[in-house]
Amino acid sequence: MSLTFLTSSAAETEEVALQLAHLLRPGDTIALKGDLGAGKTTFVRGIARALNADVPATSPTFSLINHLPGNIPIIHMDAYRLASSNDLYDLGFYDLAVDSAVLIVEWADRIIEALSENCILVEITPINADSDERHISISSAATPVMSRIDALKGIIEHG
Ligand SMILES: Nc1ncnc2c1ncn2[C@@H]1O[C@H](COP(=O)(O)OP(=O)(O)O)[C@@H](O)[C@H]1O
Ligand SMILES: [Mg+2]
Repeated sequence: MSLTFLTSSAAETEEVALQLAHLLRPGDTIALKGDLGAGKTTFVRGIARALNADVPATSPTFSLINHLPGNIPIIHMDAYRLASSNDLYDLGFYDLAVDSAVLIVEWADRIIEALSENCILVEITPINADSDERHISISSAATPVMSRIDALKGIIEHG
C-alpha cells in the first residue's frame, strides 16, 4: 500500500514534503528514490522548511552527508557516488546519531540494505521529460509507520 500524489511544480512537491514532515519523529529515515532532476533535493527542502532547519541548496554531492540543525536535526545524505553500502563504514555512517535525527537519503536504492526496514520510501517520478508534473509515492513496509503517515491522506492526496 502506498500514498500517491501528483504535483505540478517544485512548490507543490515541497508542500507534500512539508505535510509529511509534520508526521516525522526522531529516528525516522526517509529513503528517496528517483532519477537526477526528479525532485529529491526539492523534497528535502520542504522537510527542512517544516522543521525550521537550514534549507539545503543542493544535494550533498561532495560531502555526501550534511547536518542541518532544526526542531528535529536532519542528516541529509546523497548516496549517488557510493558503489555499495560497503562504502558506508569509511563515511562514518554507522556513527551517525540517527536516533535523535531524521535521516534523509537521496539515491537510497544504492544503500537500501543499510537503511532501517521501518524507513519511509518516497519515490519521485517525472510524468514525462518536458513537464513539471511529478508522481510521488510514499510508503513504508512497517505497519505502524504506514498508519502514522496515512494521515497525509485527505490532506493533500491527488492522483
Ligand atoms: N513537480 C516538481 N517537483 C519537484 N521539482 C520540480 C517539479 N517541477 C519542476 N521541478 C524542478 O526540477 C528540479 C529538481 O531538482 P532536484 O530537486 O535537485 O532533483 P534531484 O535531487 O532529484 O536531482 C528543480 O529544478 C525543480 O525546480
Ligand atoms: Mg539531489
